Amino acid sequence: MRIGPHAFTGDLLLAPMAGVSERPFRLLALELGAALCPTELVSAAGLVRATSRTRKYLRHAEIERPFCLQLFGGDPDLMARAAVIAREAGADILDVNMGCPVPKVTKGGAGAALLCDPPRAAAVVRAVRAAGLPVTAKIRSGWDARHPNAIEVARALEDAGVAAIALHPRTRAQGYSGAADWERIAAVKAAVRVPVIGNGDVRSGEDARRMRAETGCDAVMIGRAALGNPWIFREASGGPPPSPEERRALVARHFRDHLAFVAEEGFRSAIPAAVRQFRKHLTWYARGLAGAAVFRARAVRIEDPAELLATIDEFFGKSQPARETGEPEIDLRGALG
Ligand SMILES: Cc1cc2nc3c(=O)[nH]c(=O)nc-3n(C[C@H](O)[C@H](O)[C@H](O)COP(=O)(O)O)c2cc1C
Repeated sequence: MRIGPHAFTGDLLLAPMAGVSERPFRLLALELGAALCPTELVSAAGLVRATSRTRKYLRHAEIERPFCLQLFGGDPDLMARAAVIAREAGADILDVNMGCPVPKVTKGGAGAALLCDPPRAAAVVRAVRAAGLPVTAKIRSGWDARHPNAIEVARALEDAGVAAIALHPRTRAQGYSGAADWERIAAVKAAVRVPVIGNGDVRSGEDARRMRAETGCDAVMIGRAALGNPWIFREASGGPPPSPEERRALVARHFRDHLAFVAEEGFRSAIPAAVRQFRKHLTWYARGLAGAAVFRARAVRIEDPAELLATIDEFFGKSQPARETGEPEIDLRGALG
C-alpha cells in the first residue's frame, strides 16, 4: 500500500482510538507488525489555540515515521492552520476524522457531520492538503440508514486529492452497535482508485485475511481487537501468540513507558492519574486469562506504581488462558464506548 510518497511493506493498521493510541501503545503495535498507527483524534481548534492538552498528542518517536496524525474539525480554514502546526511538529501524514459520532464533535460540523456535506468534506481535505502533506480520511458508511452515502463522499474526497480512505462501515447512528457491513468496503473500493483501508469487527488474523479477500481492500485497520492484544498484528502475519513471559514483559514495559510518557509533561502529580489511566489496559491484557477477575479487583485499588508493577509481574508471569483451566472467559467488548 502507498499513502502519497510513503510505501508500506505491511498492510495492517492500528485504528485511531481516543485514550488508547498514545505513543507507548503505538510503538508496541508497530514492533509487533502494524504498518501504521495513527494518533487518536486531535482537535484542530485545540492545536491552533496551542492548549497543553492538545500538544501532548503531537509527541511521537522517530521510528514511527511516517507519523500519521488524525485531526478533527469542520472549518476548512481552521483545519488548514492546524495542518501547518501538525506538519511543523513532525507529522508526515494527516488523517481527517469523518466518522466520530460523539455529539460534542459533530455539533461543530466535524467528525461524522462532514458526511452530511460532501462538498465541505472535500473542502476540508483541500485545505489540509495545502500544508503539503499527504492527506487521508476516515469515514463511516453514512450519517444514518437513510443516508448511506459513503461512495458519494469517497468520490468527492478522491476529487479533492485524498491519498487513501479508511472506511468503518457503520453509520453514525449505529455508533458501535450491529455488525460492520463489509460489503460497503467492497463497494467503495470499486468506486475509487485511491487505496481503501477496511475497518470494523476484525477480531483475528483470519478475519483480516477474510476482509481483504471479501472486499478487495488494500489494507486492514484493527481497533478493539488490539486492546490488550497488540500481538494480533503478529498473528495476522502468521506469527505465534505470546508466551506468558512475553506477555508479562510487554505489559510491564507498556506500564513503564506510559508512566514515562506522562512524566515527560513535567507534572509529577500526573503519575497517580497515569496509574489510574493504565487500569483499562490491564483489564484488556487480563481478558481471557485465568484469575483475571481477582487480578482486576486487586489492580484497580493499587495507587503506587512500584506495587502495581510487582502485581503485573506476579500475575502475567504465570498467566494461562482461562479455557485451559476451565475458568469462564469474560468478554468485556460491550464495556467499551
Ligand atoms: C475506545 C475507542 C476510541 C476510538 N477513538 C477513535 C478516534 O479517535 N478516531 C477515529 O477515527 N476512530 C476512533 N474509534 C473508532 C475506531 O478507530 C474503529 O473505527 C472502530 O472501533 C471499529 O473498528 P474495530 O471493530 O476494529 O474496533 C474509536 C473506537 C474505540 C473503541
